[in-house]
Amino acid sequence: MYEIGKREIEAVAKVIRGGMMFRYRGGEGGWCDHFEEALAEKIGVKHALTVSSGTGALICALVGAGVEPEDEVIVPAYTFMATPLAVLAMGAIPIIADVDETLSLSPQAVEKCVSKHTRAVIPVHMIGRPCNMDALKRIAGRHKLLLIEDACQAVGGSYRGRRLGSIGDAGAFSFNQFKIISAGEGGAVVTDDLTAYDKALIYHDGGCVFRKHADKVSTPFFAGSNFRVSEITGAIMFEQLKRLDGILKRLRAHRAALRNALAKQSTFRFSPCNEEDGDCGVSAPVIFEKEQEAKQFVERNSSGNPFGPHRPIDTGRHVYVNWTPLLEKHGAFHPKADPYRRVRRKIRYSKDMCRSSLDILARTVTLTVPYDMTVKEIRRAAKSLDCR
Ligand SMILES: Cc1ncc(COP(=O)(O)O)c(C=O)c1O
Repeated sequence: MYEIGKREIEAVAKVIRGGMMFRYRGGEGGWCDHFEEALAEKIGVKHALTVSSGTGALICALVGAGVEPEDEVIVPAYTFMATPLAVLAMGAIPIIADVDETLSLSPQAVEKCVSKHTRAVIPVHMIGRPCNMDALKRIAGRHKLLLIEDACQAVGGSYRGRRLGSIGDAGAFSFNQFKIISAGEGGAVVTDDLTAYDKALIYHDGGCVFRKHADKVSTPFFAGSNFRVSEITGAIMFEQLKRLDGILKRLRAHRAALRNALAKQSTFRFSPCNEEDGDCGVSAPVIFEKEQEAKQFVERNSSGNPFGPHRPIDTGRHVYVNWTPLLEKHGAFHPKADPYRRVRRKIRYSKDMCRSSLDILARTVTLTVPYDMTVKEIRRAAKSLDCR
């Protein structure tokens, strides 16, 4: 979260004064509905549904798009563990594929992971960087796979003129504390497909069957769960969304200043990006020839600058080798609900299964783009980095 203030406070105050925090008991036509309309318009999709987290958004998007239990879903080796956990939560099996130097799914690796059981691919736009959606769409088309975009870290980013989340069959956003716009917790599913939206709506609110707004759903009711949000979330997000384009503009300008200040050094190169203009600007990753050089750069610059340089390999939760529930194949709270036990075939994971990703993540250093500094201050701070 980069900005929050008076507007959000006033919106929340209105909800509290109105005395109705539940979105479906008089909250209809309220903040959540308005936010969803505005989000759908901003992202360029027909439907948006607010849910309680990015994980919930992924689960509802998978259910909505028609992924079935025991299907295989390809996920990248570098993402927050929530991506594969969402796949397991709806009974399917995550298959881990390499990322390339862009830090997103390698289309070649995806192609190699496709089997007769594959139903979907989840491109994850990590640290605000668009995946190679053209190549992934071609693969999905060839093998008749669904594309569910995990844009949890990339709200508002774009690829070839389209906002991330609107390119695949469905998209998922997170509004947790650390995301571009935030209500502390929250998320959203976006899609053009009415049936996908209706299924996500039913799954996100098991009580939907009793509600007036669900009178006309295009699909039979089934047992859902609860990923609802309150009007408090809707009010905050309605105001946060108005700030989105301004936040992205500032982040991109700051990222450009940082990159320009480092353009002449020859110690590293900037990590390739699938769409520079669509990059959200939250981070400026660079790549070294050797792992040792990346390590030493981080050590030399570990304090005294605002960029928090670190190697993705050291972030723990974002690298598949640390996803213990997957590696140990504990896919659910109980063995009887565990997708790994339900499928008859052998699912193989090992710590060295994506060696190329480990090599790239160990040679990459991400520089966090500062938000509250001026361009001048960023330039000065960048010049003080030890790039020997
Ligand atoms: C790439 C990615 N996917 C999914 C999630 C899950 O989002 P949430 O924490 O809102 O459930 C996150 C959150 O950090 C994320 O970074």
